[in-house]
Amino acid sequence: LWLILGIRRRRPGEPQVENGIIPYLGCALQFGANPLEFLRARQKKYGHIFTCKIAGQYVHFLTDPFSYHSVIRQGRHFDWKKFHFSTSAKAFGHGNMDPSHGYTTENLHQTFIKTLQGESLSALTETMMENLQFVMLHFNTLTISSTNWTTDGLFAFCYRVMFESGYLTLFGKELNSQEDKTIARIEAQRALVLNVLENFKEFDKIFPALVAGLPIHVFKSAHSARENLAKVLLHENLSKRQNVSDLISLRMFLNDTLSTFDDINKARTHVALLWASQANTLPAAFWSLFYLIRCPEGMKAAKEEVRKTLENSNQKANLDGSQITLTKDQLDNMPVLNSIIKESMRLSSASLNIRVAKNDFALHLDNNKSYNIRKDDVIALYPQLLHYDSEIYEDPLIFKYNRFLDENGQEKMTFERNGRKLRYYHLAFGSGVTKCPGRFFAMHEIKQFLFLLLSYFEMELLDKDVKIPPLDQSRAGLGVLQPIYDVDFRYKLRSF
Ligand code: HEM
Repeated sequence: LWLILGIRRRRPGEPQVENGIIPYLGCALQFGANPLEFLRARQKKYGHIFTCKIAGQYVHFLTDPFSYHSVIRQGRHFDWKKFHFSTSAKAFGHGNMDPSHGYTTENLHQTFIKTLQGESLSALTETMMENLQFVMLHFNTLTISSTNWTTDGLFAFCYRVMFESGYLTLFGKELNSQEDKTIARIEAQRALVLNVLENFKEFDKIFPALVAGLPIHVFKSAHSARENLAKVLLHENLSKRQNVSDLISLRMFLNDTLSTFDDINKARTHVALLWASQANTLPAAFWSLFYLIRCPEGMKAAKEEVRKTLENSNQKANLDGSQITLTKDQLDNMPVLNSIIKESMRLSSASLNIRVAKNDFALHLDNNKSYNIRKDDVIALYPQLLHYDSEIYEDPLIFKYNRFLDENGQEKMTFERNGRKLRYYHLAFGSGVTKCPGRFFAMHEIKQFLFLLLSYFEMELLDKDVKIPPLDQSRAGLGVLQPIYDVDFRYKLRSF
């Protein structure tokens, strides 16, 4: 009967197992409704590690942060690529990028590191700074005035400014002659980017359903939105753009030389990168700005950091067409903005770090016990358990702008649990081999965004006592969560 129902019986040495009450789905619905509550209840009952059946798959949840390193150290037993490659192919519709499938021989992981870090990072960051200022001040994205306030949704505002700037940074601007910088041209270019944003939002809405395995044809408008994005990102269109990032130009080159993908499949690999570069960054920028605006002390410290940085590099914010530039050193040396962003992500990120067991083996944990894991089982870390742990972070649900600052005002990197120093305390960017390759760029671009807003604008929430909007749990597991609803704010140019 156990076999017919597909239910697993616990063997000696294995973690405690919950099969759930629904055949196949197991605990999927309970987990999906509120992952944090679900995992906390089981952690209380079973301890460091336990197994749950979720949609036909046995998942071992590892809840002890001191044991996270065990998974990273025993990496030889895990396959992290299979899951990532198949999820990406499922969600974006391109052929599988795992070389074993025969469509490409590219080492995708290395491509990402090479084009998102080191020298490529400097170029990306520099271009982003130009684009942010172009979008904020010249692209007419914002109806700006220094006398009248403009009211907008904070989430909508962050989405527009960050999406437009990030998109132009990765995929370049339209090629046109030096003289052809007329308002009409700029407006036309902007309309195209906003159209890409609308398609992105439509597709992103159903992203959790695609990852859960639903076919895209079920969602008519999201399907056509994804195909519209792919059409815009066809190589024939990208090759007409200037200042395309290394990330995308190398992707184009490797698609053309190492893969057997047809044109539309090549374009879909760009859609995947568009999503990876924006889906977490946009809500992270929103939460950082939201928490900053409603924290007067944090605002004061951040403004002071911005003022000093400008002063130390002999720069001034003004509207005479000159641009503010920030070096990598300056960006890496803004502990206050850094702490605000990290704290906002601690509160809003809910990613799931997943590995698949390549073979049967014994996983050794920090409590000196070993647990038998079967081939093809999944090991999952859910860092929100760590981020919301009151023994690590006092008052874990409260935003403290200086939580990641030490007594000297520098980045705090020592966090403890029960008097023991933690190796992992902030995992919004993932862990080990699947750590986000774009994390340095992401931190830079959000810092640049806040820096420029504080330099050029005055901002305030319409309702100063507005409640924190709840997190949209339907995206739990996928990264930084969006707010369920938007919050109104107003902005105007500072007087210079
Ligand atoms: C992967 C988080 C921004 C590019 C990941 C993963 C996480 C993450 C948790 C691992 C996913 C997994 O294990 O399944 C974030 C957050 C961001 C951010 C929180 C912003 C706040 C960016 C940006 C880029 C980027 C700006 C590029 C411009 C990527 C890529 C991968 C990835 C290419 C896949 C890596 C691979 O499979 O080898 N990100 N990310 N990310 N991220 Fe980010």
